[in-house]
Amino acid sequence: MKWTQALATGHELIDEQHRGLFHCLEELETATTEQRTLLAVYSITRLKHYVREHFETEEAVMKQCKFPKFKEHIAEHENFRTKMAALQGKAVILDVSAEMVEFLADWLINHVAESDLEYAPYLRK
Ligand SMILES: [Fe+2]
Repeated sequence: MKWTQALATGHELIDEQHRGLFHCLEELETATTEQRTLLAVYSITRLKHYVREHFETEEAVMKQCKFPKFKEHIAEHENFRTKMAALQGKAVILDVSAEMVEFLADWLINHVAESDLEYAPYLRK
C-alpha cells in the first residue's frame, strides 16, 4: 500500500514521516519477498528507529494541540514500540518471517489510516 493524500493529517512534518514509514515498509516487504534476509534485518532495524523518532514527533504535536484522546493514542504507540522491539530482537538473529512483516505493515497502515487521522482536525484548531 502506498501513502496517498487521503492519509494526510495536514501536518507537514508528520506527513513527511508517514511517507518515510511507508517507504521503509515497502523496502521491507520487497526484501522479504525476495528472501534477502540481511536486507530485511536492516530494514526492520531502520523501521524501528524511524518509528521511535516519528512517535516522539507525533506525541509532542498531539500534546501541543490538546488532542483529547492523547493518552489512548500514546498507549497504542507504547504497545507497538514493545512489539516492534521484540520483533527486531528476533530479526537480528535472522528470524524474519512473512507474518512478522505483515503484522508490522498492517499495524502501521491501520494506525495511520485510523488513529492518526483522528487528531487531524485538532491540528487545525
Ligand atoms: Fe500515531
